[in-house]
Amino acid sequence: MAQQYRITLLPGDGIGPEIMAVAVDVLKVLEKKFDLQFEFQEALIGGAAIEATGEPLPAATLDICRNSDAVLLAAIGGYKWDSLPSHLRPEAGLLGLRAGLELFANLRPAKIIPQLIDASTLKREIVEGVDIMVVRELTGGIYFGKPKGIFDTETGEKRGVNTMAYTESEIDRIGRVAFETARKRQGKLCSVDKANVLEVSQLWRDRMTKLAAQYPDVELTHLYVDNAAMQLVRAPKQFDTIVTGNLFGDILSDAAAMLTGSIGMLPSASLGASGLGVFEPVHGSAPDIAGLDKANPLAQVLSTAMMLRYGLNQAAAADYLEKGVLQVLANGARTGDIMSSGMQLLGCRAMGEALIQVLEK
Ligand code: IPM
Ligand code: MG
Repeated sequence: MAQQYRITLLPGDGIGPEIMAVAVDVLKVLEKKFDLQFEFQEALIGGAAIEATGEPLPAATLDICRNSDAVLLAAIGGYKWDSLPSHLRPEAGLLGLRAGLELFANLRPAKIIPQLIDASTLKREIVEGVDIMVVRELTGGIYFGKPKGIFDTETGEKRGVNTMAYTESEIDRIGRVAFETARKRQGKLCSVDKANVLEVSQLWRDRMTKLAAQYPDVELTHLYVDNAAMQLVRAPKQFDTIVTGNLFGDILSDAAAMLTGSIGMLPSASLGASGLGVFEPVHGSAPDIAGLDKANPLAQVLSTAMMLRYGLNQAAAADYLEKGVLQVLANGARTGDIMSSGMQLLGCRAMGEALIQVLEK
């Protein structure tokens, strides 16, 4: 009998619904190929949820997610909601989802795809062979630390406050995920912090160093975040696995993404202790091209592959899907963000169709 899974779909805003439609079509092909059965349930998040319910993460959405085997998210946000107070913005929905499902570990792979090497803004010899995994802490640090807010001061001036804080247990649990991840890769882990200035980073560095004793097969190094940013664009091949806090991980994962040519290609997995994960592209909702059938659906598709691999333990289907993506690129199919001369420019839907054709073979 077919293995059954309940998948929550969170298409969100902007290009979200367009790229999600491609992911669903792809999963329907994989159902047949791998004897799987997906039951899809769609829920609201971000701007779409604000429009329908007045809040970016309705309680019903969290319930639906909790009641599923994996969550596939597209993107949230848009100009329309940019002026709302921060707790009512679409981004608050995403942060609430991460916190609500305790998804403390965010895996963001940045691997050069040989077919796209010329799409990178960096020189071929710098990026050829790049294969980095950024392990970003996702439910702590300055994104969630208290106190936070905009407060009145005695002088009548306002003061904005956020707090970067990590407890030992928060550092240890992301550290363990990172060491385990590095162990399955090249065995090199670089912990990124700002320990020359921040106490929170000093604790981070101490705990990572202590943890390293339990992973003698992994080589641990440390970099300050400013140097890490420089090294990422100077000599990215020195990195295998990177572990860092929420804010530094947000920034460095965008930089790592660009090494590969387009952020439109990069997937991510957000995992927690419960086993339920959220799988989403690293890119945003791209409101400037929303509804124009121009989006690159491949990061969403590769996030779907991560869902199969890390969320559902269906490695064969994940491999097959990732190979399909490489094949469609080898065939010359390109969306605008990865277009180069001699290739065939396709819209979002046509890219999806080209991929389905490859997968159905
Ligand atoms: C990301 C995004 C989010 C973040 C935003 C949309 C809240 O930039 O997933 O990297 O900052 O974490
Ligand atoms: Mg980001």
